[in-house]
Amino acid sequence: MDAIRIKGGVPLKGTVRISGAKNAALPILCATLLSDGASKLRNVPKLRDIDTTAALLRFLGRDVSVDAPEVHVAAGSTVRPEAPYELVKQMRASVLVLGPLVARFGRAKVSLPGGCQIGARPIDQHLKGLEAMGCTIRLERGYVIAEGPNGGGRLKGAEVVFDLPTVTGTENLMMAAALAKGRTTLVNCAREPEVEELGRILNKMGAEVDGAGTDVMHIRGSDRGELAPFDHAIIPDRIEAGTYMVAAAATMGDVTLEGAELRDLEVLVVKMRQAGVEIASEGMNVRVRRTGPLKPVNVTTSPHPGFPTDMQAQFLMLMCLAKGESVISETIFENRFMHVPELQRMGATVALRGNTAVVQGVDKLYGASVMATDLRASASLVIAGLVTEEETEVRRVYHLDRGYERIEDKLGRLGATVQRVKNAEA
Ligand code: EPU
Repeated sequence: MDAIRIKGGVPLKGTVRISGAKNAALPILCATLLSDGASKLRNVPKLRDIDTTAALLRFLGRDVSVDAPEVHVAAGSTVRPEAPYELVKQMRASVLVLGPLVARFGRAKVSLPGGCQIGARPIDQHLKGLEAMGCTIRLERGYVIAEGPNGGGRLKGAEVVFDLPTVTGTENLMMAAALAKGRTTLVNCAREPEVEELGRILNKMGAEVDGAGTDVMHIRGSDRGELAPFDHAIIPDRIEAGTYMVAAAATMGDVTLEGAELRDLEVLVVKMRQAGVEIASEGMNVRVRRTGPLKPVNVTTSPHPGFPTDMQAQFLMLMCLAKGESVISETIFENRFMHVPELQRMGATVALRGNTAVVQGVDKLYGASVMATDLRASASLVIAGLVTEEETEVRRVYHLDRGYERIEDKLGRLGATVQRVKNAEA
């Protein structure tokens, strides 16, 4: 498995271009199942999760060509509405084909994603919503088998109240509702910008989605049996942007992010400013600079527009450098502190109490061989490596490759010494 070797201690300086949003691209690629026409996605990041989704769509019978930053999807000659375990286990977001498949083809067989490193991550809310729309759901040998009303008929509009806001759950039901008969109302929806983006796409495709990005959505399904294809450029990745913002601040750097949407990162920006980081927006460019010491700041993750769980590991790392104590609480996932023991090996002082981490800032971090089993945890270790003057090796880079496009090139252009080591663990 590849590793990333970092020789840090140099402030990041320069300009970095932010890629398209992974978590917007994945549901939008799945939405192409609602149409037989040829769709074109632009500004798609070059990532392993995109390749996995392309492989899944091909397995389902679609013609997919990936030539980042463009992806083209069209109907193939056959349809096989089945997502096998081999693909779903590589990427939980594969469950996003469930809604579109059952809405378009009347049936779907999708492997249950199972738990993952950050938590149990059930999909009960997805299934409950589909049942309300007339689906019969069976769980058999690790698979969800969903069938439209009367043995594979058209879904019907329904009122669904989510017990908690779920991003992919909201997206799955939006796609199902886009072809259902009549009107669907979704209440307590996830409000993430990626959900809003999917609403934009479904509207471009001819569905009527009202309220995407708010907690109540009304969707009128199309009566034509399928939706129109689309041509769309994906929004910037707010989590990639946030990660480079933290990296700039951690290294006392001065970095301009090109093509970042500050509006989608409001809470992070406020918290970073409270910590003493200068952040200025110049059009679609964002300049992040730190010249003084970091102040400790507490954060609690919550669904959008709250502090994103996908930025918790990176922010916790930043607080390891602050003068004093900060408290970081994780409320979305039950096991999302895997970066903490690794950061401790690099000299961080962090005490874990349930879903809360109490961080005492330190003057210095040390280089070490570290590894994480989650994408964002890995990103926090890379940032720690950029801070210490010693050499750090972050193992299992495939986690980073799932969500950060050309991370070593981008950091290299900002002046960091970062090198990919092939088969480091061999
Ligand atoms: N949940 C349930 N039942 C459900 C669905 C969710 O109990 O049916 C719970 C989850 O266990 C969790 C909470 O609800 O405790 C929120 O989970 P959510 O469903 O919103 O997460 P997700 O849709 O599986 C997406 C992102 C994650 C991001 C979370 C939270 C995609 C493809 N993934 O996951 O992104 O952390 O929302 O914002 O959009 C990442 O990019 O690194 C990543 C993990």
